[in-house]
Amino acid sequence: MRVRRATLADLPPIAAIEKASFPDPWPADFLAAYFDDRHALVLVAEVPCVVAFLIARDEFSRQRERVLHIHDLAVTPAHRRRGAATALLAELTAIAQALGGRRIRIEVRVDNESARRFYEHHGFQVVRRLARYYDDGGAALRMERRIAAGSWLPV
Ligand SMILES: CC(C)(COP(=O)(O)OP(=O)(O)OC[C@H]1O[C@@H](n2cnc3c(N)ncnc32)[C@H](O)[C@@H]1OP(=O)(O)O)[C@@H](O)C(=O)NCCC(=O)NCCS
Repeated sequence: MRVRRATLADLPPIAAIEKASFPDPWPADFLAAYFDDRHALVLVAEVPCVVAFLIARDEFSRQRERVLHIHDLAVTPAHRRRGAATALLAELTAIAQALGGRRIRIEVRVDNESARRFYEHHGFQVVRRLARYYDDGGAALRMERRIAAGSWLPV
């Protein structure tokens, strides 16, 4: 499996994976906007066709600490449990490390058991519960993992 930075040419498979993964998928034009955002990073995993993607942004937390905020992560259903999301997260971790150390942050639906298990498996911890986080009134858990500069290990 190869992980690389995505280009706009990858938008059709990214939008298709998004549609197959969420009951309220983001439309293609919304996803396309990330390619024009200089603070955003879009990664894909391919085998050789694209089977997974991750979108993250370099942002500031309320405490003015820089965080790599995962906005979207999905794997095409037929390729789940084969390490695609792990490969994408490993690349994001390397980038966080190269940026001089960052927190990696994600909001996960409280009832999204597989995503919660995935992030727990990778050492993320729940730091906050966010009531009515989603448009439909659903709650989210904010999960974070800190990546030290020059270290592969969470601290
Ligand atoms: C969550 C998701 C991204 C995981 O992707 P994946 O490529 O299947 O994950 P990996 O194969 O890298 O899994 C690594 C580990 O995470 C945990 N994990 C992943 N999916 C899991 C599941 N459904 N149930 C329990 N644990 C799970 C396991 O510990 C797994 O290791 P194992 O397979 O050796 O047991 C994928 O299920 C998905 O696309 N879901 C729909 C979209 C979504 O919810 N995205 C997250 C939004 S925050």
